[in-house]
Amino acid sequence: MNEKMNRMEFLKSLGLKGASLFAVYCAASGLSSCVNESMDPTTDTGGTGNELLLDLTSATYSKLNTVGNYVIVSGIVIARVSESAFAAVTQVCSHEGKRQVVYNSGEFYCPAHGARFDAAGKGLNSNGSKGLKSYPTLLEGTLLKVTV
Ligand code: FES
Repeated sequence: MNEKMNRMEFLKSLGLKGASLFAVYCAASGLSSCVNESMDPTTDTGGTGNELLLDLTSATYSKLNTVGNYVIVSGIVIARVSESAFAAVTQVCSHEGKRQVVYNSGEFYCPAHGARFDAAGKGLNSNGSKGLKSYPTLLEGTLLKVTV
């Protein structure tokens, strides 16, 4: 865990999260390092992988409060598939590698050649037959965790 993450953890321990966390973090970091880091919600979880932490109360991710909507974060398409469930898959299509996967009408879809995938990433037609890598999601309060 590097110094940047230690500072982040410290700020989190103060009870800050989402936009307010990044606002404080950016102010503490100086503007030169803020531009990219402020948009990256990835958190180092200490060796077992990374998590994307999406605060659904922030304007950036509030689309996910509505079933059928999706956002794209760090190359991962994250969709609200029902009142209680989310799904996350890679944005990179397994057909010919186009970075175009979106969520549409209850399934993941690549407009390049029409590949279709279910919410778990399983292929639904021939162009989608190789499936998509999917990632576990977990909603805790208003914080959506995606393990990547
Ligand atoms: S690259 Fe996605 S359908 Fe062909």
